[in-house]
Amino acid sequence: MNLLHIDSSILGDHSVSRQVSAAAVAALTAANPGAKVTYRDLDAQPAPHQSGALMAARGLDPADRNADQARDVADADAVLEEFLAADTVVIGVPMYNFGIPSTLKSWIDHLAVAGKTFSYSEAGPKGLAGGKRIILASSRGGFYGPDSSAASLQHQESYLRGFFGFIGIPEIEVVSAEGVNYGPDHKQTALEAAVAHASGLGQVLQAA
Ligand SMILES: Cc1cc2nc3c(=O)[nH]c(=O)nc-3n(C[C@H](O)[C@H](O)[C@H](O)COP(=O)(O)O)c2cc1C
Repeated sequence: MNLLHIDSSILGDHSVSRQVSAAAVAALTAANPGAKVTYRDLDAQPAPHQSGALMAARGLDPADRNADQARDVADADAVLEEFLAADTVVIGVPMYNFGIPSTLKSWIDHLAVAGKTFSYSEAGPKGLAGGKRIILASSRGGFYGPDSSAASLQHQESYLRGFFGFIGIPEIEVVSAEGVNYGPDHKQTALEAAVAHASGLGQVLQAA
């Protein structure tokens, strides 16, 4: 098993999604003792932003890149390589302003590469990254279920489902702690339920 573990919360030890993603990774590695785990903390070490400067650096002969350009191209390439090498990806994803953290968006910007994770033809787009197991460890302050009044503001899980579906992974698993800002008791209950759910993921994999 080649497991890629991503965290993106800005709340460090107070983060709910980090605790849930850690529980998922602990369960998966316990069930697969030989697993190789690659960890990326996007808050501590963000992937380079998709920018004109990065695009220009890519257009240069590697020998002509300065140190910053060479580092940014290498970092961006490493994001894609780690993802392509992984068979299981656990992503800690808080909801920020109804969507995902901007650092996670920057990470995704390096995954959407024509010829690597998707292709276009006359038949339309085709995902090339199929076969991976994707697990979201999600946390939200409010409630965004399909029947809630805020459902139309939910651009976090829906965005990730859409993105991974586009690159060939239509089925992803979501472990979710919702309503964590409704009060300490509710937060504790939601966190414990999500950690318990995440802790069972290794058994699902073993049975598969
Ligand atoms: C910058 C910021 C933006 C947030 N935006 C939202 C939001 O739009 N909707 C919501 O329900 N909760 C929002 N929250 C609350 C977080 O989703 C909630 O605290 C969640 O637990 C964050 O995950 P984490 O604990 O792993 O950081 C926001 C929190 C922060 C820090």
